Amino acid sequence: MLGAAGQLGREVTDELRRRGTEVLAADRRRADLTDTGATAALAVRFGAAAVYNCAAYTDVDGCESDMQQAMEVNGKAPGRLAAALPAGCRLIHVSTDYVFDGGGRRPYREEEATAPATAYGRSKLGAEQAVTDAGGLVVRTSWVFGPEGRNFVSAIAGRLGRGEPLRVVSDQVGCPTYAPYLARALADLHAVGAAGIVHYCNSPATSWHGFALAIVAALGLNAEVEPIATADLPRPAVRPAFSVLDTGRFESLANRRVEEWASGLDDYFERLGQGKAEV
Ligand SMILES: NC(=O)c1ccc[n+]([C@@H]2O[C@H](COP(=O)([O-])OP(=O)(O)OC[C@H]3O[C@@H](n4cnc5c(N)ncnc54)[C@H](OP(=O)(O)O)[C@@H]3O)[C@@H](O)[C@H]2O)c1
Repeated sequence: MLGAAGQLGREVTDELRRRGTEVLAADRRRADLTDTGATAALAVRFGAAAVYNCAAYTDVDGCESDMQQAMEVNGKAPGRLAAALPAGCRLIHVSTDYVFDGGGRRPYREEEATAPATAYGRSKLGAEQAVTDAGGLVVRTSWVFGPEGRNFVSAIAGRLGRGEPLRVVSDQVGCPTYAPYLARALADLHAVGAAGIVHYCNSPATSWHGFALAIVAALGLNAEVEPIATADLPRPAVRPAFSVLDTGRFESLANRRVEEWASGLDDYFERLGQGKAEV
């Protein structure tokens, strides 16, 4: 398990242990993704049947100014590692909706043409082919939030707690994904031997503004959320306007529907002990 200190890495570790799987939870100090030889050797010593890669350079705006690091960590290292793993051990790798340009109008299927508009998206796309060529599994996901990380939900809850006004973009549409649900999906996909690329996110699609309203409601608050346009909030990396992933392949492989993010949101605040109106 690489990236064990990240918001998804923690959940994958917990999920696998709940299933009775022995897990070597390696944070960056224990296993640097870019150090292929040492990381593959660790997997050999541990006798791993799979390596879950939750490590990545996830600063989307930072990637714009440090493309070299983005390409090394996100683009090159995962494929190198997938190829270096011993027989019988494969890489379960996490990718992103940002591999699409966001110009679509219906949910993106796995085989649709990619055209990342950001350095982060280009770097993540860089690894996909090499990982699948080496027999690894690539799971694309979107808008991840988990109780152990810094994410959109923690940012909105933080602003509410400080009494700050909320202005949130309403012209970007996607699917929030609860990290513990994603962890379960990754373990399920590995268990059924899924290969290639699979999309996984929670339902239904919403805008960041819609998601912010749901966060306010989950906390039992009445705060106003002002809808704004992407153009009102210039950032170094231009986020895709539409990044809804089609989860049909996941649903047929796992033989179940994807979870709704609203139940994840309730669980998130329950786990943080922040019931309604306790921010
Ligand atoms: N968050 C989202 O909304 C989202 C959406 C789509 C896809 N994803 C993908 O989901 C995966 C998990 O993301 P996350 O949300 O859990 O991100 P996260 O909380 O930022 O976790 C990433 C972890 O990777 C570690 N890391 C960075 N470079 C490393 C390296 N060279 N070697 C080993 N570890 C390294 C980071 O350590 P440091 O803290 O020390 O840097 C951090 O602990 C990533 O592949 C990401 O691209 C995320």
